[in-house]
Amino acid sequence: MKKQTVIITGASSGIGKEIAKHFLDKGDNVVINSSTEEKLQKVFEEFGAGQNLAMVAGNVSDKNTGKKLVATAMERFGSVDVLINNAGIYDTRPFLEVTEEYLDTFLNTNLKGTYFTTQAVIPQMLKQQDGVIINIGTPLVGHALGGAPSTAPLTSKGAIHALTLQLAAEFGINNIRVNTVAPGVIRTPMHGEDADQRAGLHLLNRVGEVEDIAEMVITVAKSRFISGAIINVDGGMAAGHNLN
Ligand SMILES: NC(=O)c1ccc[n+]([C@@H]2O[C@H](COP(=O)([O-])OP(=O)(O)OC[C@H]3O[C@@H](n4cnc5c(N)ncnc54)[C@H](OP(=O)(O)O)[C@@H]3O)[C@@H](O)[C@H]2O)c1
Repeated sequence: MKKQTVIITGASSGIGKEIAKHFLDKGDNVVINSSTEEKLQKVFEEFGAGQNLAMVAGNVSDKNTGKKLVATAMERFGSVDVLINNAGIYDTRPFLEVTEEYLDTFLNTNLKGTYFTTQAVIPQMLKQQDGVIINIGTPLVGHALGGAPSTAPLTSKGAIHALTLQLAAEFGINNIRVNTVAPGVIRTPMHGEDADQRAGLHLLNRVGEVEDIAEMVITVAKSRFISGAIINVDGGMAAGHNLN
């Protein structure tokens, strides 16, 4: 299997960190990112700071972060084969209490972060006539929940789903595949100690683990024919709920 160079945003924690570990275990070259340098440095060292690992700290909503990620991947490894737009934030606030500043926080990190990082990698993927972009979305985009007021994060994620399809359409002719993996509730620091309280949202009556998402991301990255897909990895959450 071809060795890939993979850029992963938001890789200092949770899902992104596990995705990075999976690619490293497969022998791929990995460039990790997150906005807090100390957190990222710690993970860089935990992963062994080896020849096939590089790091770029920076906020993904700043266009320069994407440019630095691509420059580092090219200098160190000579290609950009996979981009995982994983950096993201979530919070709840009732719709009528959402301020412009609060809304912008989600649009900036989730939507603009994904948008600008993708804009930074596509020129190199066009040169290669090869590449895959995997965004991290949510099944909640098509499946709303009462009791979790989340218009700000969910509208930003809905835009990512739309971006996925349109980019897949615009760049499919260049052999660039674009997909979204949409996780159910996954046990990560995003949920603190509360994740298991949400088990019943899933038909499997349990929450997911970071490995469940990393395995799908690897499958999509290594495939040659998955594009324009929104893939729920959600224990059946989008299909229904479990009242047990
Ligand atoms: N956990 C779930 O149940 C779940 C479900 C559906 C979708 N998701 C999505 O999965 C992705 C990962 O979530 P997670 O649960 O693994 O969360 P997490 O443990 O909180 O990790 C989020 C990561 O994103 C980074 N990050 C946040 N803002 C950033 C920014 N502006 N620029 C660069 N990096 C940034 C964080 O590092 P720094 O703090 O250093 O910036 C961290 O590495 C998110 O997109 C989330 O929306 C999660």
